[in-house]
Amino acid sequence: MTDLLNICGLQGWYGESHVLHGINVTVRPGETVALIGRNGAGKTTTLRALMNLLDKREGAIVMDGQDLINLPRHRVAAQGLGYVPEERGIFTTLSVAENLRLLPRTGEGMSDAQIFEFFPNLQERLASDGGKLSGGEQQMLAIARVLRTGPRLLLLDEPTEGLAPVIVQRIGHLLRALKAQGLAMLLVEQNLAFARGLADRFYLIENGRIAGSFANDEFEANAERVAAIVGV
Ligand SMILES: Nc1ncnc2c1ncn2[C@@H]1O[C@H](COP(=O)(O)OP(=O)(O)OP(=O)(O)O)[C@@H](O)[C@H]1O
Ligand SMILES: [Mg+2]
Repeated sequence: MTDLLNICGLQGWYGESHVLHGINVTVRPGETVALIGRNGAGKTTTLRALMNLLDKREGAIVMDGQDLINLPRHRVAAQGLGYVPEERGIFTTLSVAENLRLLPRTGEGMSDAQIFEFFPNLQERLASDGGKLSGGEQQMLAIARVLRTGPRLLLLDEPTEGLAPVIVQRIGHLLRALKAQGLAMLLVEQNLAFARGLADRFYLIENGRIAGSFANDEFEANAERVAAIVGV
């Protein structure tokens, strides 16, 4: 099967600081891939590199056969990459409805009706300020906002961070439903139990390099290696 995304030899810099030294990751259509690694390994930087948010990047980022490495920042989303950053980016003084409309919708994006089917609680809170939402609701709003733009690949940076276990479960349920609809995801996650409930394959990242990869059913066999690299 043709890869949806093929990242090859991706390097990235913040100013003079060389952080990514060669990231090789593939995501097949409909697949969920998790990036795991200790703090500072370069997980967030990898997602930011894909969105062209670093000061400099090199390598190849081939999406559906087209290399995006020279694509300007403002055109990345239109190529089907939808980024949900760790800090979520909810504007606290804008309403939920206004937050939802901040990103331009593309033809392929979810309709409001589809969004509210997935996120009924957001519909109930459309008039509330973003700042009044719970952490879980803010995370859902951040995901919903990106789904309206019609991504073919969802990039999620630690979607469960700081959320109570029952909310983590809801987010997991939601992401599995999106996956069941065929949406591909590249997930950064420190909560390994959560990642195991969602990901088809894992990549280990260490010091800005991919140190290994394995399928979900090979997780146990790789547990020692994961512990050594992730430090759990
Ligand atoms: N804006 C920045 N300017 C300079 N260096 C940065 C910047 N952001 C991150 N770094 C450095 O880049 C490296 C990779 O950081 P990154 O945020 O990608 O790690 P991470 O794997 O996402 O870690 P965490 O699990 O803590 O989120 C670290 O050494 C970090 O200090
Ligand atoms: Mg990070």
